[in-house]
Amino acid sequence: MAANNEFARSILDGLKRTPKYTEPRWLYDAVGAKLFEAICELDTYYVTRVEMSILNAHAADIADALGEGVSIVEPGSGAALKVRPILDALGPRAKAYVPIDIAAGQLAATAAELGKRYPHLTVSPVATNFFAPFTMPPVDNGVVFFPGSTIGNMPRESGVEFLNRMLDRSGATRLLIGFDLVKDKAVLELAYDDPAGVTRAFKMNVLHRINRELGADIDLRTFEFESLYNETSQAIEMYLTSKIGQSVHIAGETIAFAANERISTEDSRKYTLESFSDFAAACGLKPVQSWLDDDQYFALMLLSR
Ligand code: TRP
Repeated sequence: MAANNEFARSILDGLKRTPKYTEPRWLYDAVGAKLFEAICELDTYYVTRVEMSILNAHAADIADALGEGVSIVEPGSGAALKVRPILDALGPRAKAYVPIDIAAGQLAATAAELGKRYPHLTVSPVATNFFAPFTMPPVDNGVVFFPGSTIGNMPRESGVEFLNRMLDRSGATRLLIGFDLVKDKAVLELAYDDPAGVTRAFKMNVLHRINRELGADIDLRTFEFESLYNETSQAIEMYLTSKIGQSVHIAGETIAFAANERISTEDSRKYTLESFSDFAAACGLKPVQSWLDDDQYFALMLLSR
């Protein structure tokens, strides 16, 4: 019940604010996690595919830049697919891998599999929500690996705090991070609002969860999903918008919506190499090397403290 109370508190708190918002962490229940996997396989969603192609194409070069005796710490490791090309290219130069993930079952299975596949590697999984306070054994010659442009979903201040916290806790002095680049608005808006409606379903799932888990009476037909690229802030903004003026009831409370009032669900910030370097400077990090795809859609950057 504690988890449910936290969900209720967060949702009610967010929906009582102006502008209304819901925390992105509630997107990822079992249904949401499946829908997110489906997004990553869409033709229109280039992010996963392009980042993977950069990792595959430049693995040897990335491994050389990382050097000898390296320990990789990966928050939100999931199935740990993105680290594999790097571990393959590093070979015995990789000393330790610390995957950190909230999905304890998948984490244990992934750690066991990697341990078998890379016998020289010390795999030390940490099962935790990486946003919560947690401790981990400090690593030698550590690099934090944070792919997927997840940094772009965090408000700037939280992103700085998060990266500082990861580096401080692990004792790592370097960061290998993936971020999405500023590009044509039409490409971006299609990537975040696909014709098959998978992204829409992913976002609508939060309203489903509120109905199911908090006994709410939201009529989903009265909400629409909007995804807009804001060229000024260089971010995709994703909203669930009430098409009508209405009141909904959530966990015994009443929440009023004006017609066309939006719930902000998440932003996905886009960067240039310069704007990312500026951001990283706030974490005391300096760029060492970057790797891009030919279309310059996405970047992987190695930075050092
Ligand atoms: N971090 C990725 C991105 O911003 C993945 C992601 C997070 C995402 N939330 C999303 C993708 C919502 C589509 C819709 O692209």
